[in-house]
Amino acid sequence: MTNHITERASFGSKLGIILATAGSAVGLGNVWRFPYMAGENGGAVFIMIYVVCVLLLGIPCMISEFIVGRHGQANTARSYRLLAGGTPWAIIGYMGVLTGFLITGYYAVVSGWCLQYVWASLAGHLHGDPEYFKEYFTSLSSDPVKPVLWTVIILGITYLIIEHGVRNGIERASKMLMPTLFILLLVIVVASCLLPDAWKGVEFLFKPDFSKIDSDVFLGALGQSFYSLSIAMGCLCTYASYFSKYTDLTKSASQIAIIDCVVAILAGLMIFPAAFSVGVSPDSGPSLIFITLPNVFQQAFSAVPVVGYLVSLLFFLLLSLAALTSLISLHEVSTAFFEEELHTTRKRAALLVTVSTAIIGAFCSLSLGGYKGFVYFDKPLFDWFDFITGQIFLPIVGFLTCIFIGWFVDHKIVRDEFTNWGELSGRFFHFYLFLVKYVCPLAILFIFLHQLDLI
Ligand code: PHE
Repeated sequence: MTNHITERASFGSKLGIILATAGSAVGLGNVWRFPYMAGENGGAVFIMIYVVCVLLLGIPCMISEFIVGRHGQANTARSYRLLAGGTPWAIIGYMGVLTGFLITGYYAVVSGWCLQYVWASLAGHLHGDPEYFKEYFTSLSSDPVKPVLWTVIILGITYLIIEHGVRNGIERASKMLMPTLFILLLVIVVASCLLPDAWKGVEFLFKPDFSKIDSDVFLGALGQSFYSLSIAMGCLCTYASYFSKYTDLTKSASQIAIIDCVVAILAGLMIFPAAFSVGVSPDSGPSLIFITLPNVFQQAFSAVPVVGYLVSLLFFLLLSLAALTSLISLHEVSTAFFEEELHTTRKRAALLVTVSTAIIGAFCSLSLGGYKGFVYFDKPLFDWFDFITGQIFLPIVGFLTCIFIGWFVDHKIVRDEFTNWGELSGRFFHFYLFLVKYVCPLAILFIFLHQLDLI
């Protein structure tokens, strides 16, 4: 055990920690889900509620996972097991790993689509009338070969990064990918906001509409904040096991949450001004990014087609980078697990994860049209993965983690991790504990029951 601790990998710098963890948080959820939900649910009011959810619920849950991971100095399952000390609470860690593992395959499929669109933009295939874009996406996602191939390619890229280790792989890649992502985002925001009538989109996003507030808006904001911060998937816990004992957990969680919120809001400023400038009403989900937006960019910049072409290319590049950094963190959850639990090398563990998640991804992808056998109870396997991981496992793992840290784990351990063994003042410790003991579990319970239509 001692040997294992001394050999353990770690991030090399504070910046590396922030960028890698923010890379996990900033993903497809920021780019398509957040802007749409904000626009549909009262604009600025939704954003305000969202920010409150992040501050009061997201950050404490994030800190709790950091505490488990940094204390354990091991993969998610082992870290929970260590704190659980032989009690059944250890199950939470295994559930976290399983959630991360299952979601990797399905997230890789969507990431693969992004990559396919980068390719299509480069090859000049992304132009035509609105019908064309719809047809293009439908035939791509239901194709039995192409999306599977792109899923394998993006998982292969993830493998190459992960295989190089925490510092030379994950940290180095995040230090390159995250700034690039940010620059691309700013370039597209500026291009989009300079379009005629762009202000209509800005208004859609920011105009407060108090009449829209109801329990759906609250629970929607809450669910989105958890998903967006990568809570309850094992990622935060795994990354925290690579933090140093000097890392200020509260400060890091706050910085990561701020980056995540800023990217989400900027994504809105990238999408809506362009959409409103050409009078296209924004849709939700995959159809927004893969059908509506290519069409919007083409129309919005039709005066200078090269710019339209470039913006579209940059947009899908940005999306692929955002997806890739999240995929890396998801892949790492299972890689760390197999490496340590099977006592094998990092390479072998990573290969095992890549191959098995590629198989899951292929099944998910085929369920969308390539092979009808993967449809159960009218839902394709792809939707089942989304449902089981996001709506069942995520709230259960999040809820149990709060109860575990708030009520079960010795508060001295929690306090030591929170204050870096007395180094930091710990001014907010009691407030944090209060949130984790009472407020977070109740809030998560509500989202859970609401998502299952029980309340
Ligand atoms: N937070 C990511 C997003 O916003 C999704 C994600 C969830 C990534 C869980 C990793 C783990 O898209």
